Amino acid sequence: MISTFVILASLACASLAAPATSSADAPLCDVSSAVIELGNSTLPAPKFTPTFVGLGVGTQNYTCASSGTYTNVGALAELFDISCLYGQPDFDDITSVVSLFWNAAPATVTPSEIIAFGEEYDLSFVLGEHYFVVNPVTGSGLNPKWDFTSRAFAGNPNAYVVGSKVDDVPAPTGSSDIDWLYLTNLTGSLANEIYRIETKGGQPPASCTPGSSNITVKDTSLYWFTGGSF
Ligand SMILES: *[C@@H]1O[C@H](CO)[C@@H](O)[C@H](O)[C@H]1NC(C)=O
Ligand SMILES: *[C@@H]1O[C@H](CO)[C@@H](O)[C@H](O)[C@H]1NC(C)=O
Ligand SMILES: *[C@@H]1O[C@H](CO)[C@@H](O)[C@H](O)[C@H]1NC(C)=O
Ligand SMILES: *[C@@H]1O[C@H](CO)[C@@H](O)[C@H](O)[C@H]1NC(C)=O
Repeated sequence: MISTFVILASLACASLAAPATSSADAPLCDVSSAVIELGNSTLPAPKFTPTFVGLGVGTQNYTCASSGTYTNVGALAELFDISCLYGQPDFDDITSVVSLFWNAAPATVTPSEIIAFGEEYDLSFVLGEHYFVVNPVTGSGLNPKWDFTSRAFAGNPNAYVVGSKVDDVPAPTGSSDIDWLYLTNLTGSLANEIYRIETKGGQPPASCTPGSSNITVKDTSLYWFTGGSF
């Protein structure tokens, strides 16, 4: 874990024009004219201005279905503000680089521990957390949530967005990387659109034995947020 934080901290600090003085200064750098690189994917172009870009470090959760294949049942990740790195030559490789450290971390290092570390040390370059909640509109099924109420906008109960998936394409980087996604806001005013791109890892094994334990698979992903009222 320490090596993950050392690299994240040096990545974030190296490019800061001025030291962050408060965790409410999010994003650390303005990304409103950034171009969200969708590569050859067919994901729709953004309709709103980019506001935040987060590096997600966490896990995807899976349960073994009776069909003998894994089904996604949630995720948990910490989101690091990498807005100041936008425009650097290796920006699109950040998820790959950080995945090397994340995958090398021992199994005892969990996303919850990373989140606790961010709180304990009051890391100014943490945006918040990504996890799943029961669909707040229908009351059934799970939807992804991005929650900045504990870190970047601590104390502001509206700093979140629950997303509804609109489009989903296989990662162009290969079958071991989770899909690239485009979502819009179901509830919450943090963003109008959310992209998950440049994914590394997170895919489950191809088959499983029904009745076996749930598993988590590490992933690193780039999350872009547009619009919103923050
Ligand atoms: C995009 O597609 C073109 C043509 O199929 C291909 O040559 C190129 O390598 C692709 N680029 C990426 C980033 O996948
Ligand atoms: C997913 O797994 C993490 C452990 O990495 C756990 O803390 C979290 O509660 C799980 N979420 C869901 C929706 O199962
Ligand atoms: C999505 O977010 C925008 C910006 O805050 C807001 O105006 C809109 O009402 C939201 N849409 C939904 C369905 O909540
Ligand atoms: C596995 O995850 C599913 C969906 O979250 C949950 O209903 C089930 O109780 C979990 N199973 C175990 C053994 O924890």
